[in-house]
Amino acid sequence: MSVGESKRSCMCGEVRSSNVGETIVLKGWVHRRRDHGGVIFVDLRDRTGLCQVVFEPDTLPAGVFEEAGRLRDEFVLAVRGRVRPRPEGTVNPNLATGEIEVLVQEFETLNTSRPLPFKLDEYTTVNEDVRLRYRFLDLRRPEMQRNFFMRHRMYQVVRNFFSSEGFLEFTTPVLTKSTPEGARDFLVPSRLNPGAFFALPQSPQLFKQLLMVAGYDKYFQIATCFRDEDLRANRQPEFTQIDVEMSFVTPEDIYDVMERMVAAIWRECRGIEVPLPFRRVPYHEAMLKYGTDKPDLRYDLEITEMTDFFEGTAIKVFAQVLEKRGRIRALRVPGGADFSRKQLDDYTAFAGTYGAKGLAWFKVLETELQSPLAKFLDAAQTAALKQRTGAQTGDIIFMVADREKVVCDALGALRQKVAADTGRIPADSYSFAWITDFPLFEYSEREKVYTPSHHPFTSPAAADIHLLDEYNADPAKWKDAHPDDHPLKRVRALAYDLSINGEEAGGGSIRIHRQDVQDRVFRAIGIGPEQARAKFGFLLDALSYGAPPHGGIAFGVDRMLMLLLGESSIREVIPFPKTQSGSDLMVDAPSPVDDAQLAELHIRVVTPPKP
Ligand code: AMO
Ligand code: AMP
Repeated sequence: MSVGESKRSCMCGEVRSSNVGETIVLKGWVHRRRDHGGVIFVDLRDRTGLCQVVFEPDTLPAGVFEEAGRLRDEFVLAVRGRVRPRPEGTVNPNLATGEIEVLVQEFETLNTSRPLPFKLDEYTTVNEDVRLRYRFLDLRRPEMQRNFFMRHRMYQVVRNFFSSEGFLEFTTPVLTKSTPEGARDFLVPSRLNPGAFFALPQSPQLFKQLLMVAGYDKYFQIATCFRDEDLRANRQPEFTQIDVEMSFVTPEDIYDVMERMVAAIWRECRGIEVPLPFRRVPYHEAMLKYGTDKPDLRYDLEITEMTDFFEGTAIKVFAQVLEKRGRIRALRVPGGADFSRKQLDDYTAFAGTYGAKGLAWFKVLETELQSPLAKFLDAAQTAALKQRTGAQTGDIIFMVADREKVVCDALGALRQKVAADTGRIPADSYSFAWITDFPLFEYSEREKVYTPSHHPFTSPAAADIHLLDEYNADPAKWKDAHPDDHPLKRVRALAYDLSINGEEAGGGSIRIHRQDVQDRVFRAIGIGPEQARAKFGFLLDALSYGAPPHGGIAFGVDRMLMLLLGESSIREVIPFPKTQSGSDLMVDAPSPVDDAQLAELHIRVVTPPKP
């Protein structure tokens, strides 16, 4: 049998010294080819690694050796040869197969390859668009193969874990109705129902709740979700969730299961033992101390409340903020007193990108505070400031005065930037924290209304339901209320997120299972009874037929893999991702369709006017 027709006897990356003397058959790609004066070396590659194969003129018939001279990168070969130890001095300790090589007796070129648009081992200098256009080549790289082996492994760990915990795996529809996860929907026109559309699910949220109503008790799914939103490094229009729902549970039950799942993933995928339970940080504490609801807790810089401290201050910019019931908060950076003028200007500009109108700073020197604002503080205030922030000689204290959101955004981002700049973020370490007690609503600056922070099926804390009634009794009364006074701002939710290294890895909640509570939440966010019927009638129906108390969570698979692998973009862990502008450069989608197809769908395209 020719070598092309023969079965592989092993994979390229698996040949070892113990195989010396054996004749083996390998199949793979020419990763590299070196011509060493009459002897040709090829690193043959498959998904397990590289193996050096040697073509010598003495062992091969003349014509055959010449054919070896015509091999080029990425040709596909079948090779039969004898395994032998590499000669003294040529052993490669960096390669699993580095002690041996295969002396070729027979080979066949199964396919040729055009020259590649980029070299597989010099991809880092290549524009990402080129990598995405030729993703099938990019995916040949060992770094990418490592990522997708890990993705596979994670799926298996998740399936085994949930199955052994008594969960059932379901598949929920992809052609469905709009689900309210807060992004825009992708729509699919219905040929059979002119003018009507399916929406692709932003998550399986409503279906998993219906499965609880149906009595399945413990559900999980590795689900594809679709959201038409503005993209960033950690967002894709199409992404994957580990989606979970359980009946008769408290948040604690959900933390327990999900922590053990995370621990199993980290153990099986990375060999890391994660200490359980995870830290819990209430939302309000997270916003105050870290300026964000997804704090990075690998280091411990903390923000301090200073609003009350500056009551009656002579500092004009601070006094103006206090008058508008804004906030003043401080970030102490140990050892920051030696930041240069230029660094301080850069940090001020950085805080400015988050809306801060300035960045006050106080350097704590041996005998005094050094600051443009030092003259406004007397000795007692200086001592009190140091005490409140815990500042020591050699530190710097940054302050921002503004609306609460701006203060949080600016100081939270500054905290992360300073930590990175000063080498405070330990490499290859993980910090996990549950952020608990989220507010049920948040104020949308864009729409000037309160909207659900999570989704409208999240249960309010029982003790706060009266606040919904207080608001619903007379919404007009609260129209111009300051956020600190607004009843909706004060409603806490039974909602939680998991933050890993400052990334929102997952989020969920206990759901509303009573129709009357669901009605009150819809009313508070301005969804009237008719609209609620039209949008979520099936859910409201289901709640009225003995819905059990239930709750759940979803984890972002892509974000977790990015963290596990230390990648800086989720595109590196998705086999065929979209670009930052939401298109697939390889298959060229989205793309126009022909008129006949549009006619069948009863759709006419209106070309947008040129901007
Ligand atoms: P949520 O909208 O918080 O919750 O999503 C859960 C997790 O999914 C990930 N994620 C994304 N990952 C990549 N690209 C995106 N565009 C993207 N959007 C979200 C995040 C996020 O934490 N149905 C609820 C869950 C529940 O209540 O059970 C939901 O989808 O890691
Ligand atoms: P000025 O009086 O404008 O020169 O500002 C004095 C100092 O206060 C400078 O260091 C400014 O960066 C800082 N500053 C101005 N506005 C704010 C603000 N809203 N929050 C914090 N610091 C500010």
